[in-house]
Amino acid sequence: MPVSENFLDLGGQTALVTGASSGIGAGIALLLGRAGANVVVNYRKSKEGADAVVSELSERGCTATAIQADVSKEEDVVRLFEETRAAFGTIHVLIANAGVQQDAPAHEMSLDQWRKVLDVNLTGQFLCCREAIREFRRRGMVPETCPALGKIVSISSVHQFIPWAGRVNYAASKGGIMLMMQSLAQEYAHEKIRVNGIAPGAIKTAINKESWEDPKAEKDLLGLIPYGRVGEPDDIAKAALWLASDASDYVTGETIVVDGGMALYPAFREGG
Ligand code: BGC
Repeated sequence: MPVSENFLDLGGQTALVTGASSGIGAGIALLLGRAGANVVVNYRKSKEGADAVVSELSERGCTATAIQADVSKEEDVVRLFEETRAAFGTIHVLIANAGVQQDAPAHEMSLDQWRKVLDVNLTGQFLCCREAIREFRRRGMVPETCPALGKIVSISSVHQFIPWAGRVNYAASKGGIMLMMQSLAQEYAHEKIRVNGIAPGAIKTAINKESWEDPKAEKDLLGLIPYGRVGEPDDIAKAALWLASDASDYVTGETIVVDGGMALYPAFREGG
């Protein structure tokens, strides 16, 4: 078991967070860094965003570096892991977070819009999981650092089980993520690789700005959230830290829903 008495302590471990220049990914990178992990802040476009996350961690005395890569491109993902190894030697935690939305009614959705979302959200997570598993197996078990060979946390959505009109590409990608996560968990548990998911509900980030920026839109959104507030990236980060840490050492193939009750069919409180 790890040397530390604090099971949320990630000291001596390296975490790679994809899509970490803003939103949920940035929140997770900051919290894992504060828990002692060396953090790789992956970004595709926003170097400024990634650098700001790295600076905030450095100011707190944490170790972090930013690495550019488009997770939907195989050669980028291979390079991302090579650069991570060059910086920190290996990785212990992958947070597969990078994701996009491109909404359109199904009858108007272009093949490009379909492909873009599937390529980033689903294929991107597959490529990152594959490289992480290769790296965990190459490194081999180091029980003094971590009781698992490696840990993967796949950031999904409540739309892995709630259908979503006008976003057939997004819902399909998230449903795919759920069974990919569970299949990987089943495939690698005997090697002591844990694979889990988080299904966020509505979290205040750029991806859903139009649903909370304007007060009328936020009021409508709150109608779907029994807990009475829109989530913050930190709500997801706290669940990610637990799944990434050795406090959850006996948990694999599980999804934690972090949604303020959105998935509880809130309309049934009054009706049905
Ligand atoms: C989507 C958000 C949405 C939330 C709840 C997330 O996965 O990216 O746009 O607000 O699900 O519907």
